Amino acid sequence: MIRSTETIQGYTYGGKDIQPSLVSMQELEDLKVTVGWMDDDPIYLRLAGEALEDQAEQIVDHWRNGIIAGIPNLARHSRTPEGTPIPDYVINSGKRFQQWILDTCLRPYDQEWLNYQQEIARRHTSAMKNSVDGVRSTPYVPLRDILAFIPVMNETIKPYLAAKGHSTEDVDNMHRAWCKSMQLQTALWARTYMDETQGSSEW
Ligand code: HEM
Repeated sequence: MIRSTETIQGYTYGGKDIQPSLVSMQELEDLKVTVGWMDDDPIYLRLAGEALEDQAEQIVDHWRNGIIAGIPNLARHSRTPEGTPIPDYVINSGKRFQQWILDTCLRPYDQEWLNYQQEIARRHTSAMKNSVDGVRSTPYVPLRDILAFIPVMNETIKPYLAAKGHSTEDVDNMHRAWCKSMQLQTALWARTYMDETQGSSEW
């Protein structure tokens, strides 16, 4: 379900303060062609969204507590510079992370979606990280770690896609559409990192 922006702290999808994306809709369309986007990918993403909807909390917990928390170089981004955990930061940004799974699957990839892609990317760079939750933590998540984490997310999402009894073919199609979306989104985020960080400083 697409939840109301009011029920998730700091979730401002479609809000008036969201800056317009520097990527144009035409560039998004071109990127879709590059990634091999097919007409039925949104259909399989919707199916994926329905399958993942009541598992989003578990999935984010798997990624964050099951994987990221065990890798010090990644875990530090949710802690203070001294290494103290910030539980509210993890909980609140985790809820937005859960909602992002649903947005990935259930929202149309229109101008609002494109704008919010830029917003999420900015929240990983020094332009905005920490500001939404008012915390003191690392200034940014390096782009390389985001890119390198994609295959981990793609691999670990599989059992959740398969958990609702769909055929192997449907699960494969859902997974393929999910992976293309991940590639699309990180290609968009790369633009934000380049714009916000003069090219390389947050690589
Ligand atoms: C493709 C990979 C990733 C995706 C799709 C993703 C997605 C998200 C989303 C949707 C949010 C919530 C944004 C918001 O509304 O504030 C978020 C926040 C956050 N993510 Fe990621 N993330 C990824 C990789 C990582 C990695 C590798 C780390 C580092 C360990 C990380 C650390 C964080 C942190 C610290 C926040 C809170 C940012 C803030 O201060 O507002 N993310 N992520």
